[in-house]
Amino acid sequence: MPTVIRDLMSTPPVQADGDDTLASVARRMADANIGSVIIADKGDVVGIVTERDLLRAAAVDRDPATEPARRWMTPSPDVLGPDEEAEVAWSSLSDHHYRHLPVMSGSDLVGVVSLRDLMGIARLRPADETSEEVPRGLEGVVVAETAVGDVRGLEGFFHYRQYSAVELATHRSLEDVWYLMAEGELPSREQSVAFGTQTAALRQIPPGLAAQLPALARLSQPLDVLRTAVSILGGELGWPPTHEGDEGALAEQALRLCAVVPTVLTATYRLQQGLDVVPPRTDLGYAANYLWMLTGAEPTAIQARALEQYLVLTIDHGFNSSTFTARVITSTGADLAAAICGAIGALSGPLHGGAPSRALDMLDTIGTPERAEAWVRNAVEHGERIMGFGHRVYKTDDPRSLFLRNVARQMEAPLVNFATQVEQTVVDVLAELKPGRRLYANVEFYAGVVMAACGIPRQMFTPTFASSRAIGWTAHVVEQAADNRLIRPAAHYVGPAPPQPVPALTPR
Ligand code: ACO
Repeated sequence: MPTVIRDLMSTPPVQADGDDTLASVARRMADANIGSVIIADKGDVVGIVTERDLLRAAAVDRDPATEPARRWMTPSPDVLGPDEEAEVAWSSLSDHHYRHLPVMSGSDLVGVVSLRDLMGIARLRPADETSEEVPRGLEGVVVAETAVGDVRGLEGFFHYRQYSAVELATHRSLEDVWYLMAEGELPSREQSVAFGTQTAALRQIPPGLAAQLPALARLSQPLDVLRTAVSILGGELGWPPTHEGDEGALAEQALRLCAVVPTVLTATYRLQQGLDVVPPRTDLGYAANYLWMLTGAEPTAIQARALEQYLVLTIDHGFNSSTFTARVITSTGADLAAAICGAIGALSGPLHGGAPSRALDMLDTIGTPERAEAWVRNAVEHGERIMGFGHRVYKTDDPRSLFLRNVARQMEAPLVNFATQVEQTVVDVLAELKPGRRLYANVEFYAGVVMAACGIPRQMFTPTFASSRAIGWTAHVVEQAADNRLIRPAAHYVGPAPPQPVPALTPR
């Protein structure tokens, strides 16, 4: 028997008045855990507001507390009857690109049917008929549920688990936040000490990889070496596909990987400089040990803490490109090393993690504050991106950049005053030449200023970012593996119309 709308719809439908605000509509959606609210006037359906409408309003910075639902609703939507076949809903939803439709029995509103409700029977239909259109670059698209953390772009806020990342960076050590990401809660004092001891003992590079490192270091840059090294690490330690292993074993692999990454990176750097490799010390915290292995000297407490705060701030950041990459790879059941290799590759790009050294290069090129405006204007007018500015999610100040600017000031980083002047110039010029785009300094702009003041050379900026982000990546891998579904979207084919006859090869 064909499925009818009554079997699929959510009921009772949640309603609002056209004059209700978007904030109140959003609350009703959240309370009822549904994606749309019907706008009714004296019992008549006059429109429908969906999650997508809330996003549209947010994207143009409308205040949900004052914005009336009427302004954002789809007016006079198609209406379905409860006894109509699901097929009718498919046609209506796909013809109009709707995602939700009210269901009326006579003059009574009895339910709402959504594209999601229809997904259960989707596999009966060819893929191209069930596809949903999403924005290029997946901007604003929700692709999973996560308890690792999130970013609220319009508020300039991000969090790890239930804690503000900025507060964590202010009050806690890297190890504590690492524990939070791995275990889901902050450690007690005793747990913190035990975790520090446990992870410090995992810092040594296993012998097979250690033997390969000098040859790898001769061939490429530290981040590329790390990608290859992680691959070797997974092979040497016999990490099985996540699909086959158990959760506890995967969590152990994650700790091992995150503990070894700094050792691999700093050893690679020193090998490339023709210096002796400095082995890890177990009596130093993560950040101090990082600087020790890199420079061969004990850092000052100020440097170690500044780096630690940078590292805490960069552990995780929503579904950024590298994290998403790690989750996509994990979703295939591949092993942890494969997922992290992919993530490192994604991070290396200048639109993602490859910007901090370029931002510092830019400061060098500008040279003095008076030259900043002409330089930036010329670059933007020639279609260039200013490195360390703009963000896919933040349309206000990036909280990481604000925090790191303060860190740089407190440690009296040599470049901080110049960088602050250039930042203001770039923001002003971008506001004039790219009006409405809301482009501000992102994490990368002051990252380089802080790292340089900690004694980290430029070629190690993005690798250092990778070492803290590995903690976030692995938390996501563990989460994806625990509740997996293959991530496999679709694409619009836009080439010449197929099938075209395959030309026969003419004889020579
Ligand atoms: N300099 C100049 N113009 C910019 C910049 C920038 N840094 N960033 C964005 N714009 C402009 C774009 O040219 C575009 O203008 P248009 O509408 O006239 O075409 C508009 O702002 C919107 O830009 P998009 O590319 O659509 O924004 P998107 O969300 O895709 O990009 C990104 C975000 C990649 C970070 C971008 O801002 C950028 O390239 N920044 C420079 C590189 C950088 O700093 N990367 C580090 C990011 S932080 C991180 O990943 C850890």
